[in-house]
Amino acid sequence: MKLLTGNSNKHLSQKISKHLKTKLVHSSIRKFSDGEIYIEINENIRGNSIFLIQSSSAPANDNLMELLLCIDALKRSSAKNITAVIPYFGYARQDRKVAPRTSISAKLVSNLITKAGADRIVTVDLHAGQIQGFFDIPVDNLFATPIFARHVKKNINKKNLICVAPDVGGVERTRALARKLDIGIAIIDKRRPAPGKSQVMNVIGNVKGKICIIIDDIIDSGGTIVNAAQALINRGAKEVHVYITHGVLSGEAVDRIKKSRIKKLVITDTIDNSSKIRNAKNIEVLTISNLLAEAIKRISNSTSVSDLFK
Ligand code: R5P
Repeated sequence: MKLLTGNSNKHLSQKISKHLKTKLVHSSIRKFSDGEIYIEINENIRGNSIFLIQSSSAPANDNLMELLLCIDALKRSSAKNITAVIPYFGYARQDRKVAPRTSISAKLVSNLITKAGADRIVTVDLHAGQIQGFFDIPVDNLFATPIFARHVKKNINKKNLICVAPDVGGVERTRALARKLDIGIAIIDKRRPAPGKSQVMNVIGNVKGKICIIIDDIIDSGGTIVNAAQALINRGAKEVHVYITHGVLSGEAVDRIKKSRIKKLVITDTIDNSSKIRNAKNIEVLTISNLLAEAIKRISNSTSVSDLFK
C-alpha cells in the first residue's frame, strides 16, 4: 500500500502518513505557464494499491483537475488499484436539478472520477448520502460525528444541552449526534430566497435557557450558521456552539463568525484553513487524520470500516 498526496491539503496528508508510518510517494505536480497541470510520479508504483489524498476544495477546479490527472497518471503507471481519498468532496451541493435547466455537478464529477480510473472512493460527510449512488464503484462515506461527540462531552457542561439542525436537510446528522449525547433536538426552518442568502423562518422546538449545539456538513459564507445562532439567541438560548465538518469559509466568512453570537465554531481539517483562521479565537480545528488513516488501514487489510462507527 502506498500514499500519494495532491496539493489541496498536504498538512492532512502528512498527518495521515505519520499515523500509518508510510511515506508519501515522491511526485511532482507543476503548472505550465498557461495554467495546465503536469503530474509525474517519481517512483515505481507498479502493482501497488495506491491511496491518493486530495480534497476538491478551493480552488475547486484546479484541485479537481489535479485529482483526475493524478488518477490518470497512477493508472498509466500500472498501480494495482486506486482509492481516491477525497476528505472534502466539492461540487456536491448540486446533487439534483433545482430549476428546469441546471446541471447536476455531483453526478458529473462522480462520472469524471470513475472514468479517470478510480476503483474506490473514501470521503467524509458527503453533503447527501445518496451521492454514493452516483458512483458504480465502492464509496466509504466516513462521519465526523464521533469526533464531535467526544469534543462536546469533554468541553461543554452536559446540563441543558440541545442539538440543533440548521435546516431540514441536516436533521439526520443532528439526530445522530443527539443520540450519541443522549439529548433532544430542535430544527431551524431555513429558506434560501436567493443562492448564497439564507433566512431563518422559524425554530421548531424550545431552546429557551439551553446550550445549543448546531451540527452541519459545510460552512461556506457562514450565513446559515450566523443567522441560525442569532435566531436561537433571540429565542432565549444561553449559548451557541457549532460543529461543522468542512470549513469552506469563503469570502468574509471568518470575519462574520468572529463578530457573531457563536461561542465556538469547531471544524475539521478536511480543508486546509490554517492561514485563514490564524486570528479567529472562536474557531477551533479538530483533525480527521486518525479517522482517515484508520479507514485506509482497514480497507488495505480488507476489514470492516463501518465498525469504526459502532
Ligand atoms: C446546505 O445544505 C449545507 O448543509 C450548508 O448549510 C450550506 O452549504 C452552508 O452555506 P453558507 O455557510 O454559505 O450559508
